[in-house]
Amino acid sequence: MEFIPNFAVFEGGDGSGTTTQISKLTERFKNIKKPIFFPTFEPTDEKTGRLIRAILKKETTLEPETLCFLFAADRNEHLYGQDGILAHTKRNELVVSDRYALSSLVYQGIECGDELPQALNSRFPAPELTIFFDLNPEIAIKRIKDRSSHEIYEYLDFQAKVREKYIYLLKTYSEAGGKVEIIDASGHVQEVADQVWSIISQMPIFKHSENTL
Ligand code: TYD
Repeated sequence: MEFIPNFAVFEGGDGSGTTTQISKLTERFKNIKKPIFFPTFEPTDEKTGRLIRAILKKETTLEPETLCFLFAADRNEHLYGQDGILAHTKRNELVVSDRYALSSLVYQGIECGDELPQALNSRFPAPELTIFFDLNPEIAIKRIKDRSSHEIYEYLDFQAKVREKYIYLLKTYSEAGGKVEIIDASGHVQEVADQVWSIISQMPIFKHSENTL
């Protein structure tokens, strides 16, 4: 397996708090000069990502397979594009993304079977570290039910499948040499943020002599 150094990914079901935790991490980095922190997310805020978000919000419909291609196209740009993930990691910055290829293997795997997402995503190198935010789907659904709009995957049956598939694929992934940390995402925001920090701050980039905590 090929890994991208200085790159970590947050993964989890909807409502597991990955987006909140990226903001907490960003706050933490405000007082840190080096390494430079570059938080990012998928679907991105670029053209393909915005089209995906419209589909997720049910503003337009497409075949599940088409969506799988779109996620992969968005990711390709996110990774290899001018201001993409690799441009930052190569400058010795720490990149943390809210979701990456594993989200496609899980969500699109459930929707269109494993073959297509596996084929489209096998070309993307893996992150140095994956943090999985594990949360009981019933609690997750309670957390997201008060949001103003609902996306296509935000219902209990689907989220139960999502959690099961994450756990299965993470096991296979870690057996193949991928580095995975699982966090209990049911705790308070600050408690979870502290756990995230204790894991992130162990990444090799912090051991470089020019980087200080
Ligand atoms: P999410 O992180 O929940 O965005 P937000 O917090 O802004 O709503 O991601 C949006 C949804 O997209 C989520 O349900 C997971 C799904 N998704 C996929 O199905 N495949 C993918 O490859 C990615 C990156 C996300």
